[in-house]
Amino acid sequence: MNLRSGRLKDKMTGDAAEFTSSLDFDRRIFKADIQCNLAHTTMLKEQGIISGDDADQILSALNELDDKGINELDMDPSVEDIHMAVENYVTSQVGEVAGFMHTGKSRNDQVATDLRLVLKEELRDIHLDLLNFISTLLDLADAHTETIMVGYTHLQHAQPTTFAHHLLSYAYALKRDYDRIKDAYKRVDMSPLGSAALTTTSFAIHRKRTAELLGFSSIVENSIDGVSSRDFMLETVSSLSILCTTLSKICEELIIWSTYEFGLVEIAGEYSSTSSIMPQKKNPDVAEIARAKCAGVFGELVAILTMLKSLPQSYNRDLQEVTPHLWNAVDNSHALLNIIADMLSTTKFNKERGVELAEANFSTATELADLMVREKKLPFRVAHQIVGRTVGKAIEEGLMPSDITPEYIDAVANELTGEKLKLDSELVKNALDPQQVIRNRKIIGGPAPEMVKEAIANLRNFVRGESR
Ligand code: ARG
Repeated sequence: MNLRSGRLKDKMTGDAAEFTSSLDFDRRIFKADIQCNLAHTTMLKEQGIISGDDADQILSALNELDDKGINELDMDPSVEDIHMAVENYVTSQVGEVAGFMHTGKSRNDQVATDLRLVLKEELRDIHLDLLNFISTLLDLADAHTETIMVGYTHLQHAQPTTFAHHLLSYAYALKRDYDRIKDAYKRVDMSPLGSAALTTTSFAIHRKRTAELLGFSSIVENSIDGVSSRDFMLETVSSLSILCTTLSKICEELIIWSTYEFGLVEIAGEYSSTSSIMPQKKNPDVAEIARAKCAGVFGELVAILTMLKSLPQSYNRDLQEVTPHLWNAVDNSHALLNIIADMLSTTKFNKERGVELAEANFSTATELADLMVREKKLPFRVAHQIVGRTVGKAIEEGLMPSDITPEYIDAVANELTGEKLKLDSELVKNALDPQQVIRNRKIIGGPAPEMVKEAIANLRNFVRGESR
């Protein structure tokens, strides 16, 4: 039975049909649409709304379609969407009885239900991708708890740390991304089925039963809300966008750190490209493409926000145009998580360069000031000034941190305060040694190897708990 044969006399033009059809991206909700129809028909039967015999015919046609697959369907754009294609298939198998399947149901609640069903699966996969990513970081961190590097603020040398400590900063950010997506999942996991077009139906349908049959944890209660709301998509894509800020930072750092100037990491050949003219080139193309694709996910978020803004309540066909942006964001997030984790796990960290940079540029100056506070009870601001002057002078004179002696410091201290500090030379040496500085930061969340190992163990527990 043609949907248009009632109210409308004319067929859509071929162009208009193609322009408005969602069949192309509806492929993604094919299985979910069958599940949705199975649940609804089962409920109609249980409630005595349609006869057991009619229901059984419909159910077996749906199950048959599930087995045979989407190629059984007529996917011509004039069919409009997957809901009609499935209904047409059932009609071709059982005749007019198929029409009972649509009792108390609309494509409006159906599409919202299908999308939520598929998105739930996708989010579960993204959870696994994220746990895998965090595990990759933990394996790398395990191997680098003693690997020294300089930490940056303003992209200028700041304080010494370890590669493991830095990697864990990503791991904790990704853990929060994981939590956010898991939280968004709760709002995806709600059934709008039974909202029908917008005001439910006078048939005695059982919404909680279809929700249960489809594995939803709860229902979207208000029926207008049920067909209108796509905030579950927004929440998903905003969580994915936040995740992509994390991922893009990782890519950015790999790109910068692999430059000749930094020389901190070497990205594997498998994740690099060369130039068609400059034979010496090794370019971090995968990281660059990933960095840009992260931006693409933000674009999907803005597209969805903009389409939903000011849309009148209930179903508007605009909602159909939102869907491909959701899938783009989801697909790109999957791809990004997998490729970046693989690239990271094959990236080599240059330990010698890490030490060289940490030792070169007074990244241990804070510890020297702390030493003055600890040993000589100087107020930190005074110590800060003495060390600042000392470092400035040393840089002017071309000295390295290892050249700084208590006497050198005292020349400055005397000038500023009229007093000498007479620091112990062994203590000064240790304060200026990146390795000692790192060892002494045994604060929770700090870089001391034992603290980092504890953090790794905690995160491993988290991953194990979530993988069950
Ligand atoms: N294909 C539509 C969508 O993706 C669902 C069908 C609702 N169509 C309608 N004309 N009310 O949103």
